[in-house]
This record gives sequence, C-alpha cells and structure tokens, in this order.
Amino acid sequence: MLRRLYPDQPDSFAFTPENQAWAEAQITKYPEGRQASAIIPLLWRAQEQEGWLTRPAIEAVADMLGMAHIRALEVATFYFMFQLQPVGSVAHVQICGTTSCMICGAEDLVEVCKKRIAPRAHQLSVDGKFSWEEVECLGACANAPMAQIGKDYYEDLTAEKLEGLLDRMAKGEVPVPGPQNGRYASEPESGLTSLTDYEKGRDELNISARLAVDIGDTLKRIDGTEVPLKANWGRQSGGPAPERSDGLNPGGAPAAGGAPGPKPSARRPADNTGTMKQEAAATTKGRPQASVAEAEPERLDSPEGTRDDLKKISGVGPKLETMLNEMGFWHYRQIAAWGPAEIAWVDARLKFKGRIERDDWVTQAKELAAG
Ligand code: FES
Repeated sequence: MLRRLYPDQPDSFAFTPENQAWAEAQITKYPEGRQASAIIPLLWRAQEQEGWLTRPAIEAVADMLGMAHIRALEVATFYFMFQLQPVGSVAHVQICGTTSCMICGAEDLVEVCKKRIAPRAHQLSVDGKFSWEEVECLGACANAPMAQIGKDYYEDLTAEKLEGLLDRMAKGEVPVPGPQNGRYASEPESGLTSLTDYEKGRDELNISARLAVDIGDTLKRIDGTEVPLKANWGRQSGGPAPERSDGLNPGGAPAAGGAPGPKPSARRPADNTGTMKQEAAATTKGRPQASVAEAEPERLDSPEGTRDDLKKISGVGPKLETMLNEMGFWHYRQIAAWGPAEIAWVDARLKFKGRIERDDWVTQAKELAAG
C-alpha cells in the first residue's frame, strides 16, 4: 500500500509542555549519539497529541533528535501504526483482514465499516467520529475475527457486535475490550479439553482486558499527564534507571556510560518474605500455596489531608484506585504497612488475587511514602 503524506497539512507543530517534558525524558534513555533511537516513541506521542501524524510533527521530532527530515519521514511512512491522515475523533477502527479473520468473517466487518463509517478506508465518517482501515494479522488469530479499536483489541466479533460497539462508542461509552462472545480468553468455545482444573474466575476479565480497563485509555489519547515518570531516566544523573508508574515496562535503561542499567524488578523480593521472583516460582511450582489468614488493614473513612495518587503504584489504574479509596485506602503509608495477612484481606476483596504481590505494591508504596 502506498503511504503518502496527507495533502492538507497544518502550518506547524509543537508538543504540549507535558508531552515536551515526556519526550525529553525519553531521549535520556539512550546513549550519547543514539538519540535517534527515540524516534518511534516520540512520533507516537506526537500522533497521540494530534490524532494523526502531520508533516510538521514528523519534522519537529526529527529536529529534536538531530535527524535529517527524510530519515524521520522514512520511519513515519514505513510503519502502519502511524496514521498519515486525519482519523476519527472517537476512534480509528482497524479490521484484521488476514487469513484466520477473513475465514471467520472479516469481510462482514469491513462491510459494517463501509456502511457505518465511510465507503473507503481512511475516510472520515460524516460526523467525523470514526475512520477505518483493513490491516494485516494483529496476532489474535485464535479470537478471529477481530479489530483493534483505539489501543485495544475487540475479539470474537460479528457484524452485529461490531455495530453495537460503534453505537456505544459514538455515545461516549468505552466497551470492555477482549472477547465479545463470552469467552474468557482464547480457550476452545466448546470448553476445555485439557488443563481442566484451570480456574476461570479470579477475575471476570482476562489479564489483557483487565489491564485495558484499568489503564482506561482504549479510546482516550494519552497526553502526558496520565503517565507520570517518577524521575528522569537516570542517564544524565548517572543514577539507576527509574520506573514508570503506569505498569509498562521501560526496559533496561542505559546507565551512565551506556552500560545497561538494572531492570526495574531486579533484586526486588517477590513478596514480604524476601524471596526473589525466580526463587518463588521454583519453590511454589506444582504445589498449592498455603493460604494466609486474613487481617483487616488500617482503613480510613476519608483521607487525612490530601490523598495520595495511588495510580503511581505500578499496576494500579483509575478503576483500582477508586476501589481502594472505597475500601478506605487513601495513602501510600497505609499500603506500605501491609503484611501478608493484610494483603490476603485486600486480595480477597479486590478479586484480583495475587496482583498485590505480583506488582509488589507494598515496596512501591514504601518508596512513594518515603518521597
Ligand atoms: S489473522 Fe486476524 S489476528 Fe491473525
């Protein structure tokens, strides 16, 4: 497919102050002379800000990274993740049209897009809310046919279901991503034939759908305010690579001199016993874990002064923060004080068993409480 720049371009581009700060922090992840490696995240952030990738944005990013404009244009026009023309203000719908999805009904989904959005791919709907395109395999073939809408996958679709999703999105709703036919994940529709002791429901959503709901940016564009970095990436200060607070893995950020820094979870105990994650996996494999008696942690009817931003704890999104607040947890120090019994109490009520320890909320809360 020929990917050209849109003929009608804006005159200029500038990152918002938040995005500018975010972009500058990204650049510090790379060794001196390798700043061009930051081009994809920066182009992506520019696209998130504007909705699509304009020529002034591509050139501004190239200037930030000390690259020739043509090099940045090559990247922007190569990757299909970059939208080179305006997209719908609510959502851009990407229908997978590759083999599994095509066999299972992708053509019906394309017909819905043609009828409901616009006759041709990359055209805006009359109300400007939606646009669509057909893309190659998105790697969710076991849940064919599927579509990526915004940042998440809607799977096991039918024409009727896709129409329903678009109707709800047009009204401002964000339907829960994941399988749309009642499947938990990609297990056989006829039921399990192996691993039959698999326990379906610690959570009613699979981990991908749960994360999508918790992060809450399926349709929302990230704007630099909702993904705070705890600190700069450490290269300039020579310190260890800091962690993102949004649950996404930043990878091993280079430390001073270009040597790889420690991974965020390196040398972090898997739980309050001090056991490392690898050791914990080895010692519990194949054996049921002993249940821990519950003890109710300290809870408060309301925050003492200003409540803490619990979303800074990796793994806690807006929805989880609301649930924690409703349970009486407002401050890092409250979570920092949890031991195994308190974790078991909260775990049981959050219905996300194991999540607190997996993401090590207690250590994170201690660090946040210490400033
Ligand atoms: S063929 Fe559609 S996700 Fe792979």
